[in-house]
Amino acid sequence: MGQNSGYTTVDGEFDTLEDRSFLTIDDFKIEGKVIILRIDINSSVNPENGDILDNTRIKRHADTVKELSEKNAKIIILAHQSRPGKLDFVSLKKHAKIMSDIINIKIKFVPDLYGKEAISSIQKLKNSDILMLENVRFDEQEIELNKFENNNFEKQSNSKMVAKLSPLADLFINDAFAAAHRCQPSLVGFAEKLPAIAGRVMQRELDFLGKAIASGPQPRIAILGGSKAADSVAISEYFLKKGVDYVLTGGVVANIFLIAAGINIGKSSNEFIKKNIPNYEDVIDKAKYLLKNYNDQIIYPNDVALNNEGNRLGVQIESLPTEYPIHDIGLDTLVNYIEYIDKAGTVIANGPMGVFEDAEFAVGTREVFQSISNNPNMTVVGGGETAMAFNQMGLTSKIEHVSTGGGACIAFMADETMPALEAMRRSKNKYSKE
Ligand code: 3PG
Repeated sequence: MGQNSGYTTVDGEFDTLEDRSFLTIDDFKIEGKVIILRIDINSSVNPENGDILDNTRIKRHADTVKELSEKNAKIIILAHQSRPGKLDFVSLKKHAKIMSDIINIKIKFVPDLYGKEAISSIQKLKNSDILMLENVRFDEQEIELNKFENNNFEKQSNSKMVAKLSPLADLFINDAFAAAHRCQPSLVGFAEKLPAIAGRVMQRELDFLGKAIASGPQPRIAILGGSKAADSVAISEYFLKKGVDYVLTGGVVANIFLIAAGINIGKSSNEFIKKNIPNYEDVIDKAKYLLKNYNDQIIYPNDVALNNEGNRLGVQIESLPTEYPIHDIGLDTLVNYIEYIDKAGTVIANGPMGVFEDAEFAVGTREVFQSISNNPNMTVVGGGETAMAFNQMGLTSKIEHVSTGGGACIAFMADETMPALEAMRRSKNKYSKE
């Protein structure tokens, strides 16, 4: 068992969150230990030549890998790339090379997972050596055993991969926050056999996302947009319960709240919701419930930009409905949102304000994102597409924390059960007692 009990954060600043219930690298003597390190370097890949188009995730995990190597561990990296049947479902060979170049330490790539070649390479590891094994999703069981049943990870822990690799290792470090909403052997199975602890990426994600929601400097605001309205309404509820002061809405999320407030948004925008939002009636009912209970805290647009045959047409919501679809927040709303952002102690952003891919309707998103990046306080960006939009706008370096997670970040923000986090919590209970 490690030298410290309890959870130690990177900067010691966070102390109130339930998610402190994980063990971390600081809790264990790492030197000489054989460590299975699960990371998430699932990246955008050019299907024609297999080249990696975006190395953001590889860079983020490189720090954990480097730290472990410098602490003289023997490191076995596990990761996935895409899913069977997809064009970017490729080997991790190029990922290993990129990571090796980033940390300037050799990473041996082995095109095997738990067969003879993998086992003998593991047995030859010396202190500080790094080995990356093949895409875990090349293994059928990683795909098949993807269920979370009654808090039970038995099937995953009895999988071939876990059975073959866990006897060779001392510790399991889960750094794959971006896959923590999945329940696959490589993410939860090892936690039943080895102490399972959070890596640095995982730790930082939980610290920043957790703190921004529950205890970041006030006023805390969330800006929720985009078209995943069911997720965003669930996130709004959790955030408001946790004490977030205001939820500002844009995109389809705003349209749902406009409907819930009794405003007729017009045939075209209504049809979009009916067609694209599963169980949209339930989502609207939930939005009505939230407006009833948190009326002053949910802010929706008082003017919008309509798409009149490709041209931007600004109208106050009193002038709705019209035949044109709503494609952006209006300019009065934008000014109002920027005031909230400027005064905020904490800003959490997920989702664009409108159809920002079209220059005519990009103003709301661009200006809101720009003012978030100008806020000197705690700024957190979550969700794959939002992170990508910040990147494209060149604003990422001005944000305090950009989550590596897409679906995982949304699941965390909506307070869904995340199997990989459950597995680490269980491991802490088990190993803290020993
Ligand atoms: C992601 O990119 O969101 C994660 O790597 C999880 O990938 P998945 O959705 O294929 O499980």
